Amino acid sequence: MELKKGLEDVAIKETSITFIDGELGRLYYRGYSVYDLASFSNFEEVAYLIWYGKLPTRKELEDFRKLMAEERKVPDHISSFVRQVSRNANPMDVLRTAVSMMGLEDSRDGDTIQKAIKITSKMPTIVAQIQRTRRGQDLVEPDPNLSHAENFLFMLHGEKPSSTDVRSMDVSLTLHVDHEMNASTFACLVVASTLSDIYSSVVAGISALKGPLHGGANSEALKQFLEIGSPDNVEKYVLSRLSSGQRLMGFGHRVYKTMDPRAKILREYAKQLSTEKGLGELFEIAQRVEEIGIKILGNRGIYPNVDFYSGLVFYALGFDPDVFPTIFASARVVGWTAHVDEYLKDNKLIRPKAIYVGDLGRRYVPIDER
Ligand code: ACO
Repeated sequence: MELKKGLEDVAIKETSITFIDGELGRLYYRGYSVYDLASFSNFEEVAYLIWYGKLPTRKELEDFRKLMAEERKVPDHISSFVRQVSRNANPMDVLRTAVSMMGLEDSRDGDTIQKAIKITSKMPTIVAQIQRTRRGQDLVEPDPNLSHAENFLFMLHGEKPSSTDVRSMDVSLTLHVDHEMNASTFACLVVASTLSDIYSSVVAGISALKGPLHGGANSEALKQFLEIGSPDNVEKYVLSRLSSGQRLMGFGHRVYKTMDPRAKILREYAKQLSTEKGLGELFEIAQRVEEIGIKILGNRGIYPNVDFYSGLVFYALGFDPDVFPTIFASARVVGWTAHVDEYLKDNKLIRPKAIYVGDLGRRYVPIDER
């Protein structure tokens, strides 16, 4: 039996949701380039595309937006739980538990996508509640008249965001919606393949996304820039980090061997937002890390990934670094649930093998004789 560490280059399903060309640095959702979707589309339209496989008509999009907007409120007992724990707890742990609590109230039966719409609509409400509680602020009710991205920022700040902020948030969410068979999507599928329920799958997805090698890298990348402090310190910092065996966070990817297209797009939004919000120096630091990092690691196919600039965008929009992975989860839930829905159409229990390397036939020694 061949050992495939980390399941590298192992395909576990066919999909028509997302295609990544890791050599050329291209990404397509349902056949549409993310460059086009980031330029011309929006989060709701892309979520519809991912779930239903086609772009909606105007009427379909209007109805879909309305449906999502109506689902934004979270039950009071979940909000009180979030209020109670968010000052000290890790935001991903709070989000994971809140989604789990949502599952207590929904029957196990029913359409996966209908449930996915409910979860996706509510996650930003929970994230905004986590962030506001951390700052000792009152909660802001969702506004059903605003778009998904605009309402997210409205619930965060309690006032209408600028059009640049809304566009930056919308594009960031759009770019995080799906990414083929990443660790968190795989975790969702493992759970779904046992015929468990969609809430349990999403909880597994959040749990896997939390780690710094996956979605947790956005906050780590930003913390790196803050720690560097000045563009003049970048070279020394990067060299000492790499020579001590630490990884450059926001760099490297299992599939991309060149620049992640999402990082290219987000770089422009990070630049615009940081200039507007007086964070120009932080952007300069990031750009310098990108330059030096590519000089050192580029020949091994290690380039900036989505998390490199997304953190700067989220920071400029007013989120704490520890909260960034929950924003990622709020978008990726679309891909998680779409992959679960696709997988269940032809389900096969996911049950790989392990190669046993231990002893056999050992004699059991009674406890008093050990
Ligand atoms: N900085 C320095 N060296 C790196 C980096 C990095 N960011 N990424 C990979 N390498 C090196 C490893 O040290 C290893 O070197 P070695 O062969 O000399 O031991 C080699 O590249 C291969 O690394 P692996 O971890 O085996 O490769 P893998 O494909 O599993 O790595 C991963 C992918 C985990 C994302 C890695 O690039 C990494 O740790 N990056 C930093 C964390 C990060 O940004 N994660 C976000 C990924 S994107 C996402 O999940 C949304």
